[in-house]
Amino acid sequence: MEAISRIKIKDLLKSTPGQKVTVKGWVRTKRGNKDIAFIALNDGSTINNIQIVVDKNSFDANTLASITTGACIRVSGELVESVGSGQAVEIQAGEIEIYGTCDPMRYPLQKKDTSFEYLRTVAHMRPRTNTFGAVLRVRNQMAYAIHEYFHSKGFVYLNTPLITASDCEGAGQMFQVTTMDLENLPRNKKGGIDFTKDFFGKQTSLTVSGQLEGELGATALGEIYTFGPTFRAESSNTPRHLAEVWMIEPEMAFYDINDNMNLAEDFIKHLVKYALDNCYDDIKFLNDRYDPELIDRLKGVIATEFVRLEYTEGIKILEKAVSDGVKFEYPVYWCVDLQSEHERYLVEKHFCKPVILTGYPKDIKAFYMKQDENGKTVRAMDVLFPKIGEIIGGSEREYSLEKLEARIDELGMSRKNLEWYIDTRRFGSCPHSGFGLGFERLLLFVTGMQNIRDVIPFPRTPKNAEY
Ligand code: 4AD
Ligand code: MG
Repeated sequence: MEAISRIKIKDLLKSTPGQKVTVKGWVRTKRGNKDIAFIALNDGSTINNIQIVVDKNSFDANTLASITTGACIRVSGELVESVGSGQAVEIQAGEIEIYGTCDPMRYPLQKKDTSFEYLRTVAHMRPRTNTFGAVLRVRNQMAYAIHEYFHSKGFVYLNTPLITASDCEGAGQMFQVTTMDLENLPRNKKGGIDFTKDFFGKQTSLTVSGQLEGELGATALGEIYTFGPTFRAESSNTPRHLAEVWMIEPEMAFYDINDNMNLAEDFIKHLVKYALDNCYDDIKFLNDRYDPELIDRLKGVIATEFVRLEYTEGIKILEKAVSDGVKFEYPVYWCVDLQSEHERYLVEKHFCKPVILTGYPKDIKAFYMKQDENGKTVRAMDVLFPKIGEIIGGSEREYSLEKLEARIDELGMSRKNLEWYIDTRRFGSCPHSGFGLGFERLLLFVTGMQNIRDVIPFPRTPKNAEY
């Protein structure tokens, strides 16, 4: 047979029968009878497989025997109309080449254990499953949609550093970066560690957020966004926390908190709509297999106006719920840092739609947020989503030099590593705002997956840095 270039299965399934084709991919299943074998082949381009029909009499029995689940093969043959149900076209195999066999006894992806817990232990292989193929394709499309969204609005994509000497969120949950010999640390006169001897000449960590540098960009370029990994050394071992998180952080000059909320709502609706428009096969698969309300939930978010609520009002609703007998694991009072059970009560039980909570107590939020006149609250905004809780955190920024410096001092933070940041308020300060969207939290929502470890190819969590 003459050489024919490979066609991806996604395109093949839309092709008209009556042509010679070549496909390459991994065997999902093989079944049949003594005359005919049916091979379901997948190449990762779509959730759907192409069916290969093999006339056993025309092929060597040993070759056929070594085509087992997981094997990688090339098939050339005729694309024909399918007689069976479930697919429009199939391939009548003319030639089969085996690239890689796959020992069924040792292949980690067996029918018998496909639990997500098990698949996390074979995360190097799980992209080969239908579910992870679907999730990873959605992840890819969402990344593209994010760049496209900001690009179309004229935002500048800014790359902010991963290694930093400042703690943006002030929560102290940072991974240290050092090249010092941990067995033999250099000491200063006071007996402390002498970081001047370290690679950067000072103590450094992996960043928890690109925001502070993002503000430098916004106060020069107008509107920027970052999209990159951030690192959180928090020990929360929950289905919503990772130690390595991809974050999208837009930062906009001349936006107040309302502009910020409008952008966040429009942005997230755009992404959800994009997913439905461009990843329907994968989302439908996830909907039908695991979460029959997924598609309705996604459509619901696009169609609804998000609730905008003051934190203080939110606390009143939660306190009322408690007095009506609702049981929360954690207490509710003004100034509490809301737990996801509280956030989800507001979203799923009380309002039945996404909520943007604003006006948080300043004591539970970061130093850079714009202080309200009352001296107690700040112009923070958290976007709370069904099933997830907080998906976005952001704020209008404090742009008064005096107030910012006073707040840094009040919190006992060192100004030494922040002078460059404070310069934005010294020289041509401007009102501005921004927020951070957790990429994996977004993906939890869009795919309906239950555990954040299952929406990133190689999750990093406490005691787990495999692969
Ligand atoms: O609320 P956070 O901590 O806000 C910031 O970092 C700000 N500097 C953002 C900004 O204003 N530019 O984080 C933002 C979002 C959260 O709402 C959440 O979606 C996600 O990042 N996130 C995490 N996702 C998974 N695991 C973790 N450990 C996360 N920490 C934050
Ligand atoms: Mg937050």
